Amino acid sequence: MKVLVTGAAGFVGSHLAERLAARGDTVVGVDNFNDYYDPARKRRNASVLAQHQVSVLEADIRDRARMFGLFEEERFDAVAHIAAMAGVRNSVANPALYTDVNLVATQGLMDAAREFGAENFVFASTSSIYGDTPNVPFRETDPCTEPPQPYAAAKRAAELLGYTYHKLYGLNFTATRFFTVYGPRGRPDMMPGLLAESLFYGHTVPLYEGDMRRDWTFVDDIVSGVVLALDKPLGYEILNVGRGEPQPLAEFIRVMEAVSGKRAVLEPQPKLAADVYVTYADIGKARRLLGFNPTVSVQAGVERFWEWYQAEQKGLMGA
Ligand SMILES: NC(=O)c1ccc[n+]([C@@H]2O[C@H](COP(=O)([O-])OP(=O)(O)OC[C@H]3O[C@@H](n4cnc5c(N)ncnc54)[C@H](O)[C@@H]3O)[C@@H](O)[C@H]2O)c1
Repeated sequence: MKVLVTGAAGFVGSHLAERLAARGDTVVGVDNFNDYYDPARKRRNASVLAQHQVSVLEADIRDRARMFGLFEEERFDAVAHIAAMAGVRNSVANPALYTDVNLVATQGLMDAAREFGAENFVFASTSSIYGDTPNVPFRETDPCTEPPQPYAAAKRAAELLGYTYHKLYGLNFTATRFFTVYGPRGRPDMMPGLLAESLFYGHTVPLYEGDMRRDWTFVDDIVSGVVLALDKPLGYEILNVGRGEPQPLAEFIRVMEAVSGKRAVLEPQPKLAADVYVTYADIGKARRLLGFNPTVSVQAGVERFWEWYQAEQKGLMGA
């Protein structure tokens, strides 16, 4: 199968591209290597992919003509649309950027997919669209009409547009809603990355008040969900892809500290309006439709994440 992976130099995209290449798929990556976080990290991810014969085209998914040219030339069987402006808090300061990248550019890719016959379009959506609700676990049938930040609003709008494209143009569209992904190559702006930085360098981490609980999901399990969705066009579906076993942030911190043998430096701060208290996936639908079965416990995942983080930092120091 020939697959386009957008956001291939990023955290989840790089793992997905690697997994697909390892099983023999032909993978073309696209990424604009933007500086939302250190682009050097993305370059390192791309060089890992190069070892797997995956090249990452430096291009912006907002460049509609360029995307059409790429689809015309490559004739993809499937699209894994992973690229996005991530980061819920940053979206509050830059709402138009999030709409352009996460909604309008997604529409451009859907147009190219239908024009050039890509059979299946899998879209990286997010648990953020469930909003700040105590109604758990989150189910795909929940209305999701109160997105708490521009990030979530744009992602939800893209899911809805996917429905329209399926109905009108027959595009197979599956939105995989990811839940709090962590693991090697993890984003440095997310809590696990900030914690690792604190444990390794002694930097202070803001700890937002409230009994936060997250459905921490190891990146390999997320990638498994996306691969299953790529392999099985479903018409139009929305699927939660998470572990389905939320744990308090305090517990995640405890595991990180135990695994690293160090103490994090935490600075309590008031909860932000853009943050939610809990994320919790009901993964029954993904299990039923795709056979999705997450396997990595938080303990095992944190061990792998911390091992990677230390090796990465030591490599950078030696470089
Ligand atoms: N990490 C999580 O916990 C999480 C949770 C829910 C959903 N998601 C979604 O999963 C996807 C991957 O997230 P991630 O954590 O790997 O983030 P990431 O920032 O590491 O990866 C996104 C990649 O997309 C690229 N990109 C952004 N704008 C682009 C543009 N205009 N043109 C081309 N490339 C562009 C970035 O350079 C980056 O490499 C995103 O769609 C995100 O919204 C992530």
